[in-house]
Amino acid sequence: MSDRYAVIGNPIEHSKSPLIHAAFARQTGEDIEYDRLLGSLDDFAGDVRRFVAAGGRGLNVTVPFKEQAFALADRLSERAQRAGAVNTLSFEQGRILGDNTDGAGLVRDLGCNHLFRFAGSRILLLGAGGASRGVLFPLLGEDPASLTIANRTASKADELAAMARDTRVAGCGLDELAGQSFDLIVNGTAAGLKGEVPPIPGDCLRPGGWTYDMMYSSEPTAFVRWGQAHGAARALDGLGMLVEQAAESFQVWRGVMPDTGPVIEELRRGI
Ligand code: ATR
Repeated sequence: MSDRYAVIGNPIEHSKSPLIHAAFARQTGEDIEYDRLLGSLDDFAGDVRRFVAAGGRGLNVTVPFKEQAFALADRLSERAQRAGAVNTLSFEQGRILGDNTDGAGLVRDLGCNHLFRFAGSRILLLGAGGASRGVLFPLLGEDPASLTIANRTASKADELAAMARDTRVAGCGLDELAGQSFDLIVNGTAAGLKGEVPPIPGDCLRPGGWTYDMMYSSEPTAFVRWGQAHGAARALDGLGMLVEQAAESFQVWRGVMPDTGPVIEELRRGI
């Protein structure tokens, strides 16, 4: 019998996680089965318990359940505590362990796949919701000179910045960015879901700067197009982050780190 894993979310039918984990399993020879689970909006905990009772070993958790997974875990990794959310659950000896691999996924995609030099860089993080919180501390761990969180609702950016307790971090409203410029702009807002881009000044990307959209789609996202239109040296989408966070989860569960490059290429060709 293969060890059972799944991704749980609502909606879930478009998730690429089963394809990614199947590719990792083929590559590493790990004997796993990985499915999609449509979580019920009013009984996430019950869905998890039923999965465990049926022999499930681990779950990836996606929208809208990451905060509920955080609350459900008996033990949390430090990065999950800092993110305030869980995207990876492991079930061991009757206990539920919660981890979060999203931020590590972003850092690995930018730093290892694309060789972005974080050290000394000026980073702008757009948005102050769960997506931004999930990557804030891993980005700070890469030694940037500064990290500015800008949000439509300025008070939320201030709150997230205060949570960092780090003099390199500042929060502001989108309308306070005039006159500032950055080496890397990461979009963690939900604006792209409506094909929109947060209204930021075009010159806040310094010449030669990079943009990164945590979302991805088969067509360039609105924020990727914004980066291209404003002279970004690289305007990246979140496909690499998706594969890297999956690889980190695979390592948490199986103790083996898959080779992500071929899987990113395969998905890029297929999406
Ligand atoms: P998530 O968990 O995906 O981060 P969220 O907590 O709802 O989702 O946060 C969404 C983020 O996108 C917020 O920072 C939100 O700004 P507000 O705090 O002002 O609501 C931001 N956002 C959503 N739509 C946006 C838009 N059209 N332009 C700019 N920011 C937007």
